[in-house]
Amino acid sequence: MAKSKNQFSCSACGNITNKWSGRCDACGEWNSIVEDTPLSAGPKAASLGATKGRSIPLTDLRTEEIPPPRTLSGLAELDRVLGGGLVPSSAILVGGDPGIGKSTLLLQAAANFANKGLKTLYVSGEEASAQVRMRAQRLDLTSAPVQLATETNLRDILTTLETEKPQLAIIDSIQTMWSDNVGSAPGSVSQVRAAAHELTSFAKRKNTAVILVGHVTKDGQIAGPRVVEHMVDTVLYFEGERGHQFRILRAVKNRFGPADEIGVFEMTGKGLAEVINPSALFLSDRGEPTPGSVVFAGIEGTRPVLTELQALVAPSPHSQPRRTVVGWDSGRLAMILAVLEARCGIPFTGLDVYLNVAGGMKINEPAADLAVAAALLSAREDAALPADTVVFGEISLSGALRAVGQTENRLKEAQKLGFTTAIAPKGGKSPSVGGMALKHMGDLATFVGEVFGAG
Ligand code: TYD
Ligand code: MG
Repeated sequence: MAKSKNQFSCSACGNITNKWSGRCDACGEWNSIVEDTPLSAGPKAASLGATKGRSIPLTDLRTEEIPPPRTLSGLAELDRVLGGGLVPSSAILVGGDPGIGKSTLLLQAAANFANKGLKTLYVSGEEASAQVRMRAQRLDLTSAPVQLATETNLRDILTTLETEKPQLAIIDSIQTMWSDNVGSAPGSVSQVRAAAHELTSFAKRKNTAVILVGHVTKDGQIAGPRVVEHMVDTVLYFEGERGHQFRILRAVKNRFGPADEIGVFEMTGKGLAEVINPSALFLSDRGEPTPGSVVFAGIEGTRPVLTELQALVAPSPHSQPRRTVVGWDSGRLAMILAVLEARCGIPFTGLDVYLNVAGGMKINEPAADLAVAAALLSAREDAALPADTVVFGEISLSGALRAVGQTENRLKEAQKLGFTTAIAPKGGKSPSVGGMALKHMGDLATFVGEVFGAG
């Protein structure tokens, strides 16, 4: 029999190709394509139609079943991101950069769930048990009834789970696990995929919730969490800047709750502390109104969050001016610069542009367009916006402003934090929130004229 043709897969996103290349076509990552042995080539029999299978029972959509009881950890920010607590026999992936605090968060979560009466098992494949116990001691969690194991052999772990029958198993991390029926090294795409498959199907079969930790990798040496994203019910990413103490847990996929929900934590000397009112935190060090600084009234998942956008515009010494963005999409920045130039006649040629979202927050909402434009103009004109004003709205390529959803929630949050004016697009609903004046603008040129007196 001819040797089956090898396939290649990207260790960053899991895309499969039949030839090697230096750059992944799917995600654009360099040097991430590795040779892969498929899990199982399957029987080489004739087509499926040759022998009949059994017919499967079909049902309708009516149901008498009540939704499964969720367990609250007591960490409100974590419960929120999970969609209102932990669902039994669900599979959850928690991804993030090394050192961002995944092990800390999950040890705290394990202790909380165990204290709530959930039988919890924490398997560390990265640290010795003494290390985990030392962390538990630092976090003051030693009395929580968490069962701890350090192991990387998947067969032994599954056997242990089978006998112990925990209600929650935490696997830290999926990249250290290895299955002895897969030939390649731990951390390779096929190992990570096999381990995730075994653990998620165990979760469904045995009524155990499983949380998998996955390191995000830049170099492609080990497979990243995206390889297992499609196998699990919920995908959470733990993000934050190393220099900042804020950490954001974001649901990017959730079969049991809204996606894009965020939980905000602060890394302290005693582990992660919940941040109940993130807006107050992200805005806390605002002083006098400064040119280039604008407050954006955004929505993250189901909750409004105010963030400060900061822009700096300066003459460029380079032949190709810089465009640097932290916390927002650089393609979107290029678009707004183009609209400002084409529709309002305000060029940024020969100017370096820096844009930063304060506090280490990442914004994905198009509703931030108008706030970004305001920050850029304010920096360019060296004119500060009034300190009591928030801005939101989407900008279209024509220069028109498009209404965005949840205006009322945005206004209420702004009002709560002491703002009195909001600049927003015309159209859509315009609820009245006591104490908030709403300034409607139809297009970007009007905005420039009214706010900066130019255009
Ligand atoms: P860790 O949870 O080990 O990260 P990960 O599992 O994502 O790799 O967290 C590591 C960092 O967190 C480390 O730099 C130290 C810091 N840290 C604190 O600041 N306070 C604490 O109480 C703990 C336990 C860790
Ligand atoms: Mg860790």
